[in-house]
Amino acid sequence: MKRLLYISTARSPLRPSELEALLMKSRTANSAADLTGMLVVGGRRFLQVLEGPDQAVTTTFERIARDPRHFALVKLHDKEVAARSFASWAMGFEQGGVSAASATLEEQVNALVAPIADPTLRAYFTGFAKTHTSA
Ligand SMILES: Cc1cc2nc3c(=O)[nH]c(=O)nc-3n(C[C@H](O)[C@H](O)[C@H](O)COP(=O)(O)O)c2cc1C
Repeated sequence: MKRLLYISTARSPLRPSELEALLMKSRTANSAADLTGMLVVGGRRFLQVLEGPDQAVTTTFERIARDPRHFALVKLHDKEVAARSFASWAMGFEQGGVSAASATLEEQVNALVAPIADPTLRAYFTGFAKTHTSA
């Protein structure tokens, strides 16, 4: 089992109805593929974590990466894990904050996850951004 985390930029911000449709489709496909995770959306930025069987994570990420609705995908983390961190969500959703386009990757992630109320979940994302930035 592995966990993959990436950040990307929307070509244009998704309308609420478009986001709702994307989440519904993703939840159905992810459930069928035994994937769980979470999507944080703030302005034009996406931050997503996908976890589950190696092949399912890889195949789904490759499909997501080809999606013309976003670009500039940067993987923050792609590792084997013993257990899931988002076991209860086929694709959870959090409304993120808006970050400056000129900010560093770590600053972007920090701004995105700032509105997330759960401090453990927030720290989970900022931790990966910090690791990636200093790598
Ligand atoms: C930010 C973002 C996150 C996405 N997350 C998922 C996901 O978790 N699971 C999924 O199946 N599709 C996800 N998609 C949608 C896929 O990119 C793709 O549109 C969808 O799987 C349908 O593919 P198809 O049209 O080739 O059948 C996401 C798209 C975007 C832009």
